[in-house]
Amino acid sequence: MGGRLEGKVAVVTGGSRGIGRGIAAAFAAEGARVMITARDAERCEQTAKEIDGHVDFEAGHVARPDDMERVLSATLSRLGGLDVLVNNAATNPYAGPTIDVDRARWDKTLEVNLTAPMLWIQAAWRARMREAGGSVINISSVAGIRTNPILGTYGVTKAALVQLTRQLAAELAPSVRVNALAAGLVRTDFARILWEGERGDEVARAYPLQRLGEPADIAAAALYFADSAASGWVTGQVLVLDGGSTTAFDGRP
Ligand SMILES: NC(=O)c1ccc[n+]([C@@H]2O[C@H](COP(=O)([O-])OP(=O)(O)OC[C@H]3O[C@@H](n4cnc5c(N)ncnc54)[C@H](OP(=O)(O)O)[C@@H]3O)[C@@H](O)[C@H]2O)c1
Repeated sequence: MGGRLEGKVAVVTGGSRGIGRGIAAAFAAEGARVMITARDAERCEQTAKEIDGHVDFEAGHVARPDDMERVLSATLSRLGGLDVLVNNAATNPYAGPTIDVDRARWDKTLEVNLTAPMLWIQAAWRARMREAGGSVINISSVAGIRTNPILGTYGVTKAALVQLTRQLAAELAPSVRVNALAAGLVRTDFARILWEGERGDEVARAYPLQRLGEPADIAAAALYFADSAASGWVTGQVLVLDGGSTTAFDGRP
């Protein structure tokens, strides 16, 4: 265990599984007190028990304001502060050309992936960070940088999340830093259909670094943005973590 986040309190949405769990574990290992939240309370409880260090949980839906307020107030009362907010929970209910998306799934994707992070930042700012300072980390995706035949709607929300990052970085400075991580394909349940079996090997071979991402790859970068001793002069930035995929030769002359 290290001490890079000793005395800090972090909230990680979607912290029960995948990348969020990896981030919660990395923060706890560096001495932070961490609140994880996700819809499945049992899963949250299990994850909180399994991670070494001080991890608490409060279940809820990331896009429901009452749930959000409950999680934030539990964080302040039980963990005693709020220094780092990781907007990690996201959804991708629609796979197909964006031109054909139905209104319900378009709205759902925007609500969970863009509106919810905005509301969480607003609430964290008002409840604590405006006075006490802090670091916000938004989990975006390379799907928000490039086009994609089936992930376009999700990608639109992830691109907007990057612009929200820049806008709020400018507005909330100097007390609060706001940064984003744009991940390539990471081996979690969320993206299982894209990496399981031979498909994953094929994708990995196409990445310059020749492997898919793991939650720990994203967690290490989140730790950098959370740790003001390391990233105290960095705000409004998006760090791409994708095994080099967005810089790979694409075969065109
Ligand atoms: N995996 C990839 O390849 C990849 C690539 C780029 C970016 N990302 C981004 O990385 C982030 C994490 O993805 P992941 O791959 O780690 O996903 P994951 O393994 O499916 O985990 C998602 C987490 O979010 C929670 N969650 C989902 N919907 C929620 C909601 N409405 N309210 C509250 N919690 C919710 C889930 O728990 P419950 O289901 O219990 O709520 C779970 O804890 C997302 O922002 C995703 O867009 C992932």
